[in-house]
Amino acid sequence: MAEKKKEILYTGSDTEGGITSGYNMNDGVKLKVPYSFFGSIYDEEEEKAVLKAMKQESQTMGPQVALFQQEFAKKFEVKHAFATTNCTTAMHVATQAFGIKEGDEVIVTPNTFIATSLVILKEGAKPVYADINPKTFNIDPSQIEDKITDRTKAIYVVHYGGQMCDMDPIMEIAKRHNLYVMEDCAHAHGAKYKGRQAGSIADIGCFSFHSLKNITTLGEGGMITTNNDEFADRIGRIRCMSLTHWPPEQKVFEFAGFRMEKTDVKDYWIPSHFDVIDDNGKWGNNYRMNETQAAVGRAQLKKLDMLISKRRENAHYLTNNLQSIKGITPVYEDPNCFHSYHLYTLCIEAEELGASRDDFMRVLYREEGIQGIQHYQPSYHFTGFKKLYNYPDRLCPNAEKFFYGRETNLPMHPRLTKEELDMIVTGIKNAAGKVRS
Ligand SMILES: Cc1ncc(COP(=O)(O)O)c(C=O)c1O
Repeated sequence: MAEKKKEILYTGSDTEGGITSGYNMNDGVKLKVPYSFFGSIYDEEEEKAVLKAMKQESQTMGPQVALFQQEFAKKFEVKHAFATTNCTTAMHVATQAFGIKEGDEVIVTPNTFIATSLVILKEGAKPVYADINPKTFNIDPSQIEDKITDRTKAIYVVHYGGQMCDMDPIMEIAKRHNLYVMEDCAHAHGAKYKGRQAGSIADIGCFSFHSLKNITTLGEGGMITTNNDEFADRIGRIRCMSLTHWPPEQKVFEFAGFRMEKTDVKDYWIPSHFDVIDDNGKWGNNYRMNETQAAVGRAQLKKLDMLISKRRENAHYLTNNLQSIKGITPVYEDPNCFHSYHLYTLCIEAEELGASRDDFMRVLYREEGIQGIQHYQPSYHFTGFKKLYNYPDRLCPNAEKFFYGRETNLPMHPRLTKEELDMIVTGIKNAAGKVRS
C-alpha cells in the first residue's frame, strides 16, 4: 500500500476545539512529527463505500450494518457481533447485559480512558482499581484477587496500547469467583493472546472505531462481541430500545378489548410489530450504528491486517533504534501476545536518564519537534470519582508512576514514513543527550 500514498485523503488536524478533538496545540511549536488524530488509512475503497451507502433506501441498521457485523464476527472469531455508536455505548450495553447495579463492584484497571469506569458508575456500581504490571501496563492478574469482595460482579480489563492482558489467569480467577469479564478492546483490533483474537476470550468484548483507533468508521463507532447466546439476546435489546419479537406462534392478540388475528405479526403491524421487555430491570437505548459508518467499517476491516502490519513494522523500527539509549525503555512484547501497536509507549526511567520524564518531554516537544501524548491519568484521581468514593491518593503505585513519571506515547499510525521514524529516533536521542547534560 505504500505506493498508494497519493490517494490518502487525510489532510490535516483542524479541531472543533473540544478536549477530545485533536492534538494541534496552536502554541507556536514547530513540529517535525505531530501526533496524528487519524489512526488509519482511507483510500478510494472507503470513498466508494460512502457513496454507495448514501444511495441506499435504508440509512441505518440496514444491509451494511448486518454485513459489517457478520464480517467482523468472522474476522474476530466470535459467534455474535453488534455494531454500536462507539465503544462507550458498547461497554454500557455490556454492563447492563451483566445486570450490574447499585451496590455492585467491578474490578477495573486504572490505566484506561475514563469510559471504562464511567459505564460502571452509570449503573450505580463502584469501580475498584487493581494495579498494573509495570512492563505491559495492563491490569496485573496477581493484584485482582485481593480486591474481590462479596459485592464484586465483574472484571473489566483493557488491552492497553494493543497488547492483550494475561487472559488465562484472569479468566481462571473469574471462573473461581463466578464473575463476568469484559474485554475493553478499544486499542486491540488485530491483537492476539496465545493465538486468540481480542474480544473472543471474555464474556463480552467491546471495540472502538474512534478516529484514533486501528480502524475507524468515520471518526466514531463501536462493536460488541460475544460467544454467549444469552448475552447476545440481551445485547440486541439493550442496544435498541428494549425491543423484542412477539412469539412467532402467537396469532391472536388482544388489547383493550380489541382482538386481532393474523397469519404473521409483521403483515400489517409494521413498524409496531414488536414487544418491549426489560432485561433484569435494565432498559434499552438507541446505540445503533448508521449504514455509511458500517460500509466504511467493512472497507476498513479488509485493510486491518495491512494496517496492523504497518504499525508493527514502524514499532519494530523504533524499538531497534531506541533500545540502546540509557534511561529509555522501548515497548516490551509479551511472548504470549501479538501486539497490534495502537500505541507505542516509551518509558523514561528518570533515575537512569538523570532527568525527569517531563523535562525530557519538554525538550522532545519544544526543541526536537516530536509530539508525544500521555495516556492515562489513573481514573480514581479525577475529582468526581474521588468525591463519590473517596479513593486514597496512592492506590495503584505502578499506574501512578507510569502516568506521572514514566510514560509517553510516540506518534504511531500506519502512514508514518521512514523519514518520520528517523526524525523520531533522532529527536529522542538528542533530547536524552540534552537533558542528561
Ligand atoms: C481504552 C479505551 N476504552 C474506551 C474508549 C472509548 O471509546 P469511544 O470513544 O469509541 O467511546 C477509548 C477511547 O478512546 C479507549 O481508549
